Amino acid sequence: MLDQLNTLKEKALCELNELTEVTQLPEWHRQYLSKKGELTQFLKQLGQLSAEERPAVGKAANEVKQALKEHFDAYQENLQEAKLNQALESDEIDISLPGRRYHRGRLHISTQMLRRINEIFSQMGFQVYDAPEVESDEYNFQLLNIPAYHPARDMWDTFWINDQVVLRTHTSPGQIRAMKEYYPKPIRVILPGKVYRYEQITPRSEHQFYQVEGLAVGHNIKMTDLIGVMAEFAHKLYGSTRKIRIRGSYFPFTEPSIEIDMDCILCKGNGCRVCKHTGWLEVGGAGMVHPVVLKNGGYDPDEWSGFAFGLGVERPAMLKHGINDIRSFYSNDLDFLQQF
Ligand code: PHE
Repeated sequence: MLDQLNTLKEKALCELNELTEVTQLPEWHRQYLSKKGELTQFLKQLGQLSAEERPAVGKAANEVKQALKEHFDAYQENLQEAKLNQALESDEIDISLPGRRYHRGRLHISTQMLRRINEIFSQMGFQVYDAPEVESDEYNFQLLNIPAYHPARDMWDTFWINDQVVLRTHTSPGQIRAMKEYYPKPIRVILPGKVYRYEQITPRSEHQFYQVEGLAVGHNIKMTDLIGVMAEFAHKLYGSTRKIRIRGSYFPFTEPSIEIDMDCILCKGNGCRVCKHTGWLEVGGAGMVHPVVLKNGGYDPDEWSGFAFGLGVERPAMLKHGINDIRSFYSNDLDFLQQF
């Protein structure tokens, strides 16, 4: 019987060593080590042995069982490990490859300029005031001293949503909103935002662009305050040696109205292509708040005075970066946008 036992053990181990897949292991286990397996069957025959023979054969059988179990566990572990290694190799993960480049977002060039402008005015005590882009005829025109059918309406080609609602053509309607909210306190705000004009798109004009409106209302505000603020702005944005010049102009909501220019940052006033050989660049329109507009905002023009200005945002960005086509701002060309 001991011989039988040894044969069984050798056969079992031999077969085990031939297995190459983890999935084949349960079958082998069933055949040799399960309750119906060959070893168990063998142990059942022990009863036929004599009392002298039984302990030795029983002991040997248990040793064989133990040995098969140990071999089986070790073999199973080896197979699993080999399989894992194989999988790792065949997946071909090349850990020496460089990582994928991580694309960082950035602020749009208009946003960068807006933030710079906001910063300069906030240093002068101006707070940012938000006003809607979809406006009523009343705020965009009437309360700014531009009645229906007034020829001054031709200054702004307008997108009409219906006969009472427009896309704001300028940030000036925010002046009225700020005054109505602040009254009876003094005001020093800027109103940055997008405006819309029903205009031909050319390298120099878009139908949507940014403006920064400024409004100061107080008890003794004069034209010199306005000029001082504009000069300070030009110095902060373009350097302390900038000169500014003012020209008389017309806006229905300011009286008197002016246009502010600054000596050309490229040719320093000598005349070049950028300043169209005038030596000067436009900064924006401005003026003293018209008494009618003050009144519409709730402020008594006999007691209060104020100044207002409207600045472009894309133009200064174009000057700063030497961009010669305003359409680039909205064409979403990443090669263009990623330069700034
Ligand atoms: N709103 C004017 C424009 O868009 C600019 C402006 C603002 C002029 C404030 C005077 C005062 O043309």
